[in-house]
Amino acid sequence: MASAPLNDLWIAALTVSIVFLTILWYKLNKVESNLPPGPRGLPIVGFLPFLRANLHHQLTELSQQYGPIYKFWLGGKLCVVLNSPSLAKEVVRDQDSIFANRDPPIAGLVATYGGLDIGFSPYGSYWRDMRKLFVREMLSNRNLESCYSLRRQEVRKTIKNVHTKIGSLTDIGELAFVTEMNVIMSMIFGSNFVEEMEKHGTEFRELVIKYPQILGRPNISDFFPMLARFDLQGIQKDAEALLKSVESILDPAINEHLKMLSDRREGEIQGNEKKDFIQILLELMEQKDIGISLDLVKIKAILVDIVIGGTDSTITTIEWVMTELLNNPETMSKVQQELKHVVGMNNIVEESHLPELHYLDAVIKETLRLHPALPLLIPKRPSQSAIVGGYTIPEGTKVFLNVYAIHRDPHAWESPLEFQPERFLNRSTNLDYAGNNMKYLPFGSGRRICAGLPLAEKMIMFMLASLLHSFDWKLPEGENVDLSEGFGLVIKKSKRLFAIPTPKLPNLDLYQ
Ligand code: HEM
Repeated sequence: MASAPLNDLWIAALTVSIVFLTILWYKLNKVESNLPPGPRGLPIVGFLPFLRANLHHQLTELSQQYGPIYKFWLGGKLCVVLNSPSLAKEVVRDQDSIFANRDPPIAGLVATYGGLDIGFSPYGSYWRDMRKLFVREMLSNRNLESCYSLRRQEVRKTIKNVHTKIGSLTDIGELAFVTEMNVIMSMIFGSNFVEEMEKHGTEFRELVIKYPQILGRPNISDFFPMLARFDLQGIQKDAEALLKSVESILDPAINEHLKMLSDRREGEIQGNEKKDFIQILLELMEQKDIGISLDLVKIKAILVDIVIGGTDSTITTIEWVMTELLNNPETMSKVQQELKHVVGMNNIVEESHLPELHYLDAVIKETLRLHPALPLLIPKRPSQSAIVGGYTIPEGTKVFLNVYAIHRDPHAWESPLEFQPERFLNRSTNLDYAGNNMKYLPFGSGRRICAGLPLAEKMIMFMLASLLHSFDWKLPEGENVDLSEGFGLVIKKSKRLFAIPTPKLPNLDLYQ
């Protein structure tokens, strides 16, 4: 008799379990059935064994097979790729607060002290404060104007340097690297530091090249968290070593500024002198009541973003523009005609000329269309489940916005594979860098748009205008332009670009 209530209990428990499991199965199935289509891959590893080195090419090819939105699995990680302007709009405009979150790889976390930088930190108050600090204190219009003399000084140094290489093979990436690095370093640490930094030039360039390669390598640890502690491919170890090398260059400069700060406090010197970015950060670190709790690690994380991330994408873009110009000599001569007209040949380029250089601007925009430095932007991770293109994108999915495919989409662009800067001369289209026209997003769009855009735009224009105004450039006899791409988070040319300068400006003494 006592077993009857027990039986009832069993039956009730069984019924509840069946109902629960049915709901769960239904829900999972519904999510799965509402995922976008995509290649199947293998059990457990998914699509991982099929990944190719040039991911952006492969993802663009897959969009031709599976349509503008598709998915694949990398181990246990669901990835979704968006390949059209209208899907981009759904993500960066309509649902930006959900998709402003990041999905950093382990290597990225290691290289930024656990995502304490701007680029990889999750969407939230920490990211907002850090980005505001960077944009307001370092890249405000006022600060950019007051740092013009630094940019001018470095660009002039570069022109004088090219003058010593007349008629000989010149590494364009190297020229761009030295100039950009010196500008960024002097904005952060002050111009006195440039000489010190130049001693580390070669070593630092190696780091700048390695950084996006390590971050862009598919890492098994990212897709099978259980295996992460074994670091099977050694990528985590490489990222740790990279960070150590960067620290060995940045730490002495930071320590010197800390010492200067404490000497100044002891001497009670209150100067009105312009502060370097590092000085501003260190002073904020000491103020406890400003709402942001800064410490040295967070400061270094921001510096890694600016110094490594910013330098790399800028020099890569300059190298691509020069490559396209060498490949299209008529376009190069049109740029030089414009420079002759706007700047004149008895004068040197100043930043005040840049807004008048419409054709050069169009050439740079067209280059960034065909060769966006970050063709898949920085991958996103929705903070909650969302619907895009009618499909479910579950929370935690890795979302690639394939700007490379969008920039070459024949529905969005006429003759998309041809280099035609003229398409950017029509002012009625809003084809600028602000990320408002969804068919053109070289700097991304929405809340996570590139934070360094105002500096990048100035530096690229200023450097190219100066190089093309002062010199004619040609390839070595018998060589063709190489347009092949390397791989990584930032897409570089697979081979360095060497070109030969000959003087164009009648009087290079103007640069003395
Ligand atoms: C041609 C030069 C550059 C290009 C093409 C470029 C492109 C980009 C892109 C595509 C993103 C990701 C946007 C997204 O995910 O929606 C980004 C992020 C970022 N860029 Fe740039 N960038 C350039 C130069 C710079 C420079 C010079 C700096 C710093 C001085 C810089 C600092 C940053 C930072 C801090 C972020 C992270 C923004 C965030 O997550 O909130 N970039 N950049």
